[in-house]
Amino acid sequence: MDEFILDTEGMTKEFRGFVAVSDVSMRVRRGSIHGLIGPNGAGKTTCFNLLTKFLPPTKGVIRYNGRDITKLKPAEVAKLGLVRSFQISAVFGHMTVLENVRVALQRSRGRSFDFWRSDDVLRRYDDRAMELLEDVGLTGFAHLPAAQLSYGRKRALEIATTLALDPTMLLLDEPTAGMTHEDVDRIVALVKRVAVGRTVLMVEHNLKVVEGLCDRITVLTRGRILAEGDYPTVSRNPEVVAAYLGAEPEVSGGTAHA
Ligand SMILES: Nc1ncnc2c1ncn2[C@@H]1O[C@H](COP(=O)(O)OP(=O)(O)OP(=O)(O)O)[C@@H](O)[C@H]1O
Ligand SMILES: [Mg+2]
Repeated sequence: MDEFILDTEGMTKEFRGFVAVSDVSMRVRRGSIHGLIGPNGAGKTTCFNLLTKFLPPTKGVIRYNGRDITKLKPAEVAKLGLVRSFQISAVFGHMTVLENVRVALQRSRGRSFDFWRSDDVLRRYDDRAMELLEDVGLTGFAHLPAAQLSYGRKRALEIATTLALDPTMLLLDEPTAGMTHEDVDRIVALVKRVAVGRTVLMVEHNLKVVEGLCDRITVLTRGRILAEGDYPTVSRNPEVVAAYLGAEPEVSGGTAHA
């Protein structure tokens, strides 16, 4: 098997003359957690849309698991195990946490509705759903309406519904966005857990999270790759500091409390 599960060559996306993603050639190592970072508007989400086929590239080639997926449709790449979180998996607030995961399992199997009427089958799906809830730390919330979960736990539930598709490679777009400290820690632990035996590509603004999770990082600015490497390398790169890290409200170290 190829060392790299995903690679792009000259991936480019233009929106009416505006180049949002420009000549991006990147490789993601199988089994790694790979970070995609960069300032607002750098083209990160557009890259995700290109990789998961929600947008056709203007130019370039995308390969996944040794095959050219440039021309495939979103459902086709999802079937190949390349799955993006928070896309197929909206949380239904009126249903319980368990029911949300069960529906995701049912949809992932794509069987007819009647088939699900069988109690036996439903029970089997509930067993699998409970396993997934355990994976994301939501066992104790199974019978609560999803609407009652905290924001962070809702995102964990979304990850559970994504895992129901049994992805080989998982794309996470800002999994910790808008979270409290405690929720961030929980998601970090969760990503570590779900990354076992999988490849994860994640967009993340929280650099502590990136540092703690990512084996390798690609930095985008204005649609182009600015730097690539592990966190120590990338965070020392002066261009990266200027373009991205410098823009963060970093503690300057010199501002002691009076
Ligand atoms: N459908 C579209 N039509 C026109 N322009 C678009 C479209 N989608 C994105 N863009 C533009 O492309 C650029 C990159 O957007 P994108 O959402 O990929 O950035 P991002 O890196 O994900 O930013 P953020 O960190 O804010 O999420 C932006 O200037 C955006 O306005
Ligand atoms: Mg984005």
